[in-house]
Amino acid sequence: MKFFLDTANIEEIKKANDWGLLDGVTTNPTLVAKTGKPFLKVAEEIIKILGPERPVSLEVVATDYNGMVNQARELAKLGPNVAVKIPMTPEGIKAVKTLTKEGIKTNVTLVFSPMQALLAAKAGATYVSPFVGRLDDISMEGMKLIEEIVAIYSAYGFTTKIIVASVRHPEHVRQAALLGADIATVPFGVLEKLFKHPLTDIGLERFLKDWNSLPEDFKPKFLK
Ligand code: E4P
Repeated sequence: MKFFLDTANIEEIKKANDWGLLDGVTTNPTLVAKTGKPFLKVAEEIIKILGPERPVSLEVVATDYNGMVNQARELAKLGPNVAVKIPMTPEGIKAVKTLTKEGIKTNVTLVFSPMQALLAAKAGATYVSPFVGRLDDISMEGMKLIEEIVAIYSAYGFTTKIIVASVRHPEHVRQAALLGADIATVPFGVLEKLFKHPLTDIGLERFLKDWNSLPEDFKPKFLK
């Protein structure tokens, strides 16, 4: 399973990249606004860090077909790794169809039902982003949506990749992995939490304490 970072924060992206755990980045207008920096500056910096292979999702803000297609074409010019986020609307799906024909990668966003995911796949979207956390927020079962999309896509052999989005905690990531989702896009805080287990901390402390109790001349120089 691939890990994308759901952020426009450059420091977070650099850290995840240093850990060797960064397969891609997803942004949205809210995340870009949070940086307090101009859009192009942020987008170009992220694209540069990710290089030509790893995808960066950048979102259109038009809502009509022509506007979305024009904005998507401009966004795609920013780099070969740009996947254009298009909202899940009839105009959006029509735009995805056009952009797919032009070879522009798309990520259909704001997906909350299996039927919406089916439409995205039928339009040829590169990625679909079902939002699990926002479903949980309204007392629905976000991960059930992923289960159903996985089943539908595999029944028909759709190649659209499922990005589990609106991830709130490591449990979402665990369930996404068990369900065979292609990608989880996670906030930096969730990525950090994936490393953590109290028994790891206790175990490491104990190993080091026991090692340090050895006489100094028992330890080779390179293990001091
Ligand atoms: C997905 O691509 C979105 O950027 C994101 O996951 C939305 O998450 P939120 O519900 O935490 O805002």
